[in-house]
Amino acid sequence: MKKIIIAIDGFSSCGKSTMAKDLAREIGYIYIDSGAMYRAVTLYCIEQGLFDEAGNIDEETLKAHMNDIHISFQLNPETQRPVTYLNGVNVEDRIRSLEVSSHVSPVAALGFVREALVKQQQEMGKEKGIVMDGRDIGTAVFPEAELKIFVTASAEIRAQRRYDELKAKGQEASFEDILRNVEERDRIDQSRAVSPLRKADDAILLDNSYLTIAEQKEWLKTQFEKATHAT
Ligand code: DC
Repeated sequence: MKKIIIAIDGFSSCGKSTMAKDLAREIGYIYIDSGAMYRAVTLYCIEQGLFDEAGNIDEETLKAHMNDIHISFQLNPETQRPVTYLNGVNVEDRIRSLEVSSHVSPVAALGFVREALVKQQQEMGKEKGIVMDGRDIGTAVFPEAELKIFVTASAEIRAQRRYDELKAKGQEASFEDILRNVEERDRIDQSRAVSPLRKADDAILLDNSYLTIAEQKEWLKTQFEKATHAT
């Protein structure tokens, strides 16, 4: 069967990655979490001390260092889950911390960062057979994707999901802080000048506020089957 590109965009913490990952595994496609790439660049900035106390980035230094930032993904052989590597080091847990979450939006708003990452993402999808999730996959990375999904859920429900996720990992978290972070990221993601978060005209909208993971999975599989029959 002809392989296609599946673009899954939407708001932060709305379960895009879970559904994208599950689908990719089931249909034998590559899965790429583009948010992890923006998070890895952010972690690099934190580690290199490129943020000042007010959270402003030293853009010039970051620009000069862009070629030193190598991001890759490998499957964990035990869990079959993808793991993010930054310059050869496993950073999967660190890029999910609240510290990275609260510094990532301004990094993702930089045109030169987006340009570099979008180029790498397009390269990853050259052979098709890929599920990529993010904010601009259906609009900027793969505007020609055969299947585009735009996912949303209420901010409170998304904050609760992230809170549960951090708690399960034993990380300290306050629901109020997370909710503020989710709302702030929605605002920045939608209002930034370069590739703001928006639904592509030809994307299918999914509000998963009250869907179980199993229901979503079923829904997405049906969309995939429809899209592959249509091509
Ligand atoms: O999906 P996430 O929460 O892991 O994404 C982290 C941040 O990266 C988020 O604030 C938005 C940004 N992002 C982006 O601008 N474009 C993408 N394709 C993916 C993520």
